[in-house]
Amino acid sequence: MLRIGIEDAAIATGHYFLPLSELADHNGIDVQKYYVGLGQEQFSWVAEDEDIVTMAASAAQPILAPEVKTELGSVLFATETGIDQSKSAGVYLQSLLDLPKNIRVIEVKQACYAAAAALQLACAMVAREPNKKVLVIGSDVAKYEMGGTGEPTQGAAAVALLVSASPKLIEFDATTGVFTNDTMDFWRPNYSTTAHVDGKTSISAYLDAVKGVWQDYQAKGGAPYSDFARFCYHQPFTKMAAKAHRTLALENGIRLTSPQVEEQIASTTVYNRRLGNSYTASLFSALLSLLENDNQDLSGKRIGLLSFGSGSVAEFFSGIVCPGYQGHLRGKDHQQMLADRVQLTYEKYAELHERSLPTDGSRFQNPIVSTGAFRFAGLADHKRLYEAR
Ligand code: HMG
Repeated sequence: MLRIGIEDAAIATGHYFLPLSELADHNGIDVQKYYVGLGQEQFSWVAEDEDIVTMAASAAQPILAPEVKTELGSVLFATETGIDQSKSAGVYLQSLLDLPKNIRVIEVKQACYAAAAALQLACAMVAREPNKKVLVIGSDVAKYEMGGTGEPTQGAAAVALLVSASPKLIEFDATTGVFTNDTMDFWRPNYSTTAHVDGKTSISAYLDAVKGVWQDYQAKGGAPYSDFARFCYHQPFTKMAAKAHRTLALENGIRLTSPQVEEQIASTTVYNRRLGNSYTASLFSALLSLLENDNQDLSGKRIGLLSFGSGSVAEFFSGIVCPGYQGHLRGKDHQQMLADRVQLTYEKYAELHERSLPTDGSRFQNPIVSTGAFRFAGLADHKRLYEAR
């Protein structure tokens, strides 16, 4: 039987972070609402010369060794922070990462669910052409109106996943449960740089989807709840994973106490507490957080993954952690990446939040701020200009 799963994976994030204590001070809110009520401590933010393309390139670079590039068949770029209505953000990666010409590249969209959709497409592509690997990327900047209730749940990150027939981290099971429900809980019209959200509706849409995907997964003969060692959830804020886990357990007749919920999902929330919402990347940074921070050996254990994208579409899927996975992780790099971010003051954050780029095609240079391998250098003739350092 063909084994299909994740061979390698890495996270990248923005140059900056804002401690939520700064935001709480400014907004006159008890910071415990953020720390405890939302389960968030910080959020990442992109510098003037960063965007979803530079974060995606930084996430993908470490997993694209020369021999991997020659085996690459497709790049699937999931995002809801698109930079162009026509050209896929993934195509820019060809120049930045020196990717081969004989690859297919597309952008995938359905709110935060898009990277899970891309992953399912990638599995189908590998099943069709097992000697080719697929690079799946989720890259987003989550941006809400300043002063609104969504503001503390902003964030930025990219995750790159190498999907292949030689998985070293997790091998996926074929059965998945899906659920779509046309809802206006969160959306971003083309003319808006910030998302519109009905916060309470979005939470109940997510929890309805938890039940919906699980019922579909069970109806299709999926593994029982008791088979799972851990569950990873999409984390718009980490407390949402707690709500989702409690709901899934209840759906299986198990009433968990708050400490039990916390204990069972704690290792999946280590990165997202500090990254903030990274939309498409969030579920997969939860998976890497689990693999890199759980104190149990998860080899051979079944993990459940629940992706939710507002609007709304959700999927529950699962996989078995590969024996020896510890030798293929990048936990130290990810800790370093978080530690290396530069702390923002509230004033600088506000300036970056409200900054806009020219739309008249004039030549414009971004200041040199970020220190990573890739820069969004500026604009000319309505084109984005990127640089690899
Ligand atoms: P809010 O109205 O400011 O917060 O918005 P609240 O009053 O509901 O409080 C939040 C929690 O903090 C509550 O706990 C309070 O009790 C607690 P809960 O009842 O939920 O357990 N609290 C405190 N705890 C300790 N000390 C205190 C204190 N004060 C209050 N002093 C909301 C919260 C999440 C709605 C808002 O931040 C928001 O709209 N966020 C954006 C939308 C969102 O993240 N929705 C989640 C589901 S939708 C989703 O996941 C998809 C998404 O990622 C987008 C996509 O798919 O592309 C968003």
